[in-house]
Amino acid sequence: MRGLVPSGWGLGPRLIASILAVVLVAAGTAWAVAAVIGPIIFHDHMLQASHHDVAEHAELAFRAASELSLALALLVALVTSVIVTLFLTGRIGRSLASVRDAASEIADGDYGARVPQVGVGVEFDDLATAFNTMAADLEQIEGTRRQMLGDLAHEMRTPVATLNAYVEAVTDGVAPASEATWSVLREQVTRLERLAEDVNLVTTSEEGRLSMHRRSIDVAELLTAAATQAAQGYAAKDVHLHVDASPAADSSVHADADRMGQVLTNLLDNALRHTQRGGHVWLRAVRVGEVVRVIVRDDGDGISSEHLPHVFERFYRGDRARDRAHGGSGIGLAIVRSIVRAHGGTVHATSPGHGQGATFTVELPAVL
Ligand SMILES: Nc1ncnc2c1ncn2[C@@H]1O[C@H](COP(=O)(O)OP(=O)(O)OP(=O)(O)O)[C@@H](O)[C@H]1O
Ligand SMILES: [Mg+2]
Repeated sequence: MRGLVPSGWGLGPRLIASILAVVLVAAGTAWAVAAVIGPIIFHDHMLQASHHDVAEHAELAFRAASELSLALALLVALVTSVIVTLFLTGRIGRSLASVRDAASEIADGDYGARVPQVGVGVEFDDLATAFNTMAADLEQIEGTRRQMLGDLAHEMRTPVATLNAYVEAVTDGVAPASEATWSVLREQVTRLERLAEDVNLVTTSEEGRLSMHRRSIDVAELLTAAATQAAQGYAAKDVHLHVDASPAADSSVHADADRMGQVLTNLLDNALRHTQRGGHVWLRAVRVGEVVRVIVRDDGDGISSEHLPHVFERFYRGDRARDRAHGGSGIGLAIVRSIVRAHGGTVHATSPGHGQGATFTVELPAVL
């Protein structure tokens, strides 16, 4: 009943308003008929009445006037309620049909389908809003799925093409089956293997199926283990790694040592990859109330504000060509985020901008 009642009205007030409208029209009709026809009928009867049958004529006139006004009022009420009912059910039917059509479009794979706000009451508007939110979420999930498959195919294409070219060259006798050839083949197979492992890891952890063996671990122990593992790579590139766990001394977290080790290794790998020779990386742990904060900061490339919100997305690489050349497939941080979340923690990245270093902060609940 758009236009006739305020748009914020619910279905209940709208129904009451229509019943009131019917009653008012009927009452109006009865009153109008009684007011117009009543006196005429009375007048006629009074003219016909003789001295002794006045009362009888008055009675007849009264009955005729009441019957007529009641009959007309009922007739008008009937017609009005039919019109109002047709109007209401038409609108409700049309809104339900729009939901049904949108639902079947979505079932057919058209995730762009939306339900219009038809103005049949707040209940329908709420239904349309909820439906549209669901459709938008599905559209986004479908987009991510499509993009993931595309990215995965893209990631596999390079190693598979290299493998193919080398195998063909060796088979045709164009290239020798030398140690160098085997090394290239092995490298590509390893890259594919790692990709499969990474995708599997990120999928299982996002589904919450990641097997974890959590125990209480000293934070300093976690940092030292990760730093020891990274030491060689850092020394080779001449990047200084500063480790300081003293602000979180004696703090423990309830974590899976291997998985958290992987988180720190991924962060330290990234920091090393994005820091120039002679640069610095700081690995620190701080206790803030009931939380342990592990911070990996570097003074390297930094991350521009346009890339910053996306670095934790699967397959996201800031510099596609360059990061790929380094062997990265852009899953490292997605793994970091899912492992940290599985531990009930959070991770976020900050950077003042390109060329000004980056800071990754992992927050985990401390064992109290
Ligand atoms: N410390 C950092 N400094 C600057 N940029 C970074 C840093 N860490 C991550 N990034 C940016 O975030 C992107 C995503 O990182 P992520 O670890 O997920 O992928 P990757 O390192 O490219 O590949 P992978 O870790 O799978 O080998 C990187 O490609 C890089 O552009
Ligand atoms: Mg990485």
